[in-house]
Amino acid sequence: MMELVNIIKQAGYEGSELPFERIYEGFMRKPHLMERPLIEYSRLDHLCNLINIPHEAGIEVERFFQPVETDSEKKTVVRFILYAMLDDSPFISHRWEDVPHPVFFESEQHSLFRMAVIFAALDRGRFLREQRKYPVEKVKPLLAEARNNIMKHREKTGEWGGDDLNWVVCRVSHYMTRQGNLYIIPCSLTGIRFTMFRNSWTRQTTALCAPDMDVREDGQFAMSPEERSFLTRFNETDTAVIGTPIAPSGYIMNKSVQLDKKLWQRVLGKENIAYELYIPQGIPYEPSHFLLSFKHAIDFYGKYFPEMKFTAFFCLSWLFSPQIEKLIQNPESRIIEIFRQGFIIPERSDMSVFYKFIFGYSDVNIKTVKITTSLQKNLVTYLREGNQLNWGRFVYLLEDIDRWGSSPYQSQVRV
Ligand SMILES: CC(C)(COP(=O)(O)OP(=O)(O)OC[C@H]1O[C@@H](n2cnc3c(N)ncnc32)[C@H](O)[C@@H]1OP(=O)(O)O)[C@@H](O)C(=O)NCCC(=O)NCCS
Repeated sequence: MMELVNIIKQAGYEGSELPFERIYEGFMRKPHLMERPLIEYSRLDHLCNLINIPHEAGIEVERFFQPVETDSEKKTVVRFILYAMLDDSPFISHRWEDVPHPVFFESEQHSLFRMAVIFAALDRGRFLREQRKYPVEKVKPLLAEARNNIMKHREKTGEWGGDDLNWVVCRVSHYMTRQGNLYIIPCSLTGIRFTMFRNSWTRQTTALCAPDMDVREDGQFAMSPEERSFLTRFNETDTAVIGTPIAPSGYIMNKSVQLDKKLWQRVLGKENIAYELYIPQGIPYEPSHFLLSFKHAIDFYGKYFPEMKFTAFFCLSWLFSPQIEKLIQNPESRIIEIFRQGFIIPERSDMSVFYKFIFGYSDVNIKTVKITTSLQKNLVTYLREGNQLNWGRFVYLLEDIDRWGSSPYQSQVRV
């Protein structure tokens, strides 16, 4: 067994942020996985049909794996990736961006390796849907998006694969579904750096940061220690929680608060599961549609995944940047209206993601870029004045579903 751990660690997992030991233990508890071929080759044609790509992709993946099937060490590593990692779903959304290619694959093989991961995820997704018996319509738009990604990659590089493995695997996983206008996927909160509490008397909600994080003067996370203005703190005793609070509009406050445990209940933390939202391009972006999607999600996952107990809705996006109100002055703005419904948690990010969603490409030059909307104009002015932007995470507690529309967090008096 030790030998297997070493092989897998050498394949690039050492130092990874993944809960490697936990996944590995799960893997070892399923000896039947060791008996399976790397891919169910007989189903590759069917999978190509399901995602509407030429069968040639399946043939190439099969050819790629032939030498690996006869090498027991390599086979163990690949099997671990294809089965153990995927088997640990549904929490794949935060996982695949962190998965290294096994070191024994040459760089020109990486694309096909990614294609194999996509097939494995798709096969598992197909199985999941058949087992849970939910309608294929819930995942069709997502499979179509995954197909477009694969075909674009093929056109661009001449190879089978996907441009952003995390993104494609989520879309073929069958855990991600379309609910109303939004895409939703269950997400584990093990990686979050804040905890939320609610006063059982006043119903007031607050979030406290994890300890020892660098914060800039403007209340956002520092990108480097040089930018640090203050450090967060968090300490829990038998009777109280003491920590650095986050204002619900997304600013970390340079002060400490003490919450009496008799009054304040923990309502969200690393132990919970959330519905993660993805906002597709070109949808009608309305508060009423959000609420409808929330209700659809509660019904759908309650019916087909009753064992999952969700606590909140989560969405990480430029749309929830704590600075977004500085960029949009239009009182009719839907972006601002929806922003105000959530508890906003600041998140680190670089500018390229803002550019991608606001201008359509990442390497924008703010001196020469062509401007067509007021948002683009205000963004450019804001940056030229020397300000910084970062993403935000929208959090909405399930228990507040009946308060949607009343800005339940941002309208409350500060702690
Ligand atoms: C989400 C979305 C539909 C909201 O657009 P909207 O309904 O027009 O939002 P608002 O009414 O609040 O727009 C306010 C202003 O910002 C502009 N704006 C909104 N989204 C914009 C975008 N993605 N790029 C450039 N400008 C944008 C609007 O044109 C409007 O400016 P104007 O007054 O000059 O016309 C839109 O941003 C979109 O399609 N985004 C792509 C998907 C996405 O970003 N998903 C999140 C991934 S993390």
